[in-house]
Amino acid sequence: MTTTAPEWATYAGLLADLLRERGDIETPEWHDAVEHVPRHAFVQRAYEQDPTGLWTSWEADAHWDRVYAPKTLVTALDSRRGYPEPASSSTNPELMVRMLEMLDLRDSHRVLEIGTGTGYNAALLSRRLGDTRVFSVDIDPELVALAGQRLRTAGYRPTLAAVDGQDGLPEHAPYDRIIATCSAPAVPLSWAEQLAPGGSVLVDLKLAISAGNLVHLNRRADGTLEGRFATRWASFMAMRHHGDLPVSAPRVEQAEDGRSRATAAPVPPWGTPVVWFLAHAAGLPRGVEFGALLDPESRTPYAASLTGPDGSWARVSLSDHTVTEAGNTSLWEPVERAYRVWVDTDRPGWDRLGLTVDADGHNTVWLDEPDGEHTWLLPADDTPMRA
Ligand SMILES: C[S@@+](CC[C@H](N)C(=O)[O-])C[C@H]1O[C@@H](n2cnc3c(N)ncnc32)[C@H](O)[C@@H]1O
Repeated sequence: MTTTAPEWATYAGLLADLLRERGDIETPEWHDAVEHVPRHAFVQRAYEQDPTGLWTSWEADAHWDRVYAPKTLVTALDSRRGYPEPASSSTNPELMVRMLEMLDLRDSHRVLEIGTGTGYNAALLSRRLGDTRVFSVDIDPELVALAGQRLRTAGYRPTLAAVDGQDGLPEHAPYDRIIATCSAPAVPLSWAEQLAPGGSVLVDLKLAISAGNLVHLNRRADGTLEGRFATRWASFMAMRHHGDLPVSAPRVEQAEDGRSRATAAPVPPWGTPVVWFLAHAAGLPRGVEFGALLDPESRTPYAASLTGPDGSWARVSLSDHTVTEAGNTSLWEPVERAYRVWVDTDRPGWDRLGLTVDADGHNTVWLDEPDGEHTWLLPADDTPMRA
């Protein structure tokens, strides 16, 4: 008796082929995983925001082509700030497999994932390594319960836990690899401590929205972690913690009485991601809000605006690069400092930046070499980052 493959399998196979053609999948193991793990079983319902900001949703079962596509699918919304915003998603498979390839897994490896979400990535890992070698945690117990059900239905039983991934999962350590699918403002010492000798950590280090990138760190013999940022930029939703309160900069009237001067730094600064990252590493306070100021009539942007937690602000004209600032903290000064270093060092890309996590958990960003001329000690992650 012959059995016909389910319809979704054709789409999953096409997605695996596409990712291989694009160079994201490099090894047969990850092609096999994408081909055989049913993404629709983990997504089921996806949410999309239209240009007016309204969220609508669609069922995965009726849209194989949209599920088996190199796209991030938002799977949970959170309305605690008074409006819906993504709380969980199934990461774009293109980025996911690129990261899985970077892990350079061996059959014997044990992997801890921070950010279970839908469970899809835990399923890919389980397909590749077997259930007993895969551990995945998420801060949201409902997501973990749902992911557990869906994993079991799809035939996978990795170890799941509803805990804050900041602490890792010490009871099952050591791990050969730790992969975070939410961004963190610093690499916690717990991850270094839970890595096996020769192990590595792959995480999106973000000091604020858009201010950071994936960094791949190897555990050295002395227990410290060190490595470089990935060449290609990527972004995950930020790690949250129980008891986090949204940190919002106070609404301040940006009156005309600020101090004005010309600036050479890029406007808006977040359009030059390495400078934006270094500006945060160089001292932009945690929780700075930023955005474009729009002309009320034409709705076109005319200035970039930064507002600090203490009410200080900077506004930079898009047309003549004049910066106007007010308040006790200069928010533009760290941007200019970062820009000067960036220009003086021949405009480095991400691949010239690296990170060291020492035995005390201090995170230091460096340019070119760990003990080179330019290093930035990151603030300890004791303040919530919500932007
Ligand atoms: C982009 S989703 C992960 C996607 C997931 N790997 C998948 O395959 O569907 C990010 C996840 O990180 C989780 N998260 C946020 N903060 C966390 C924390 N402190 N510890 C563990 N998980 C966290 C969120 O609840 C969310 O589910």
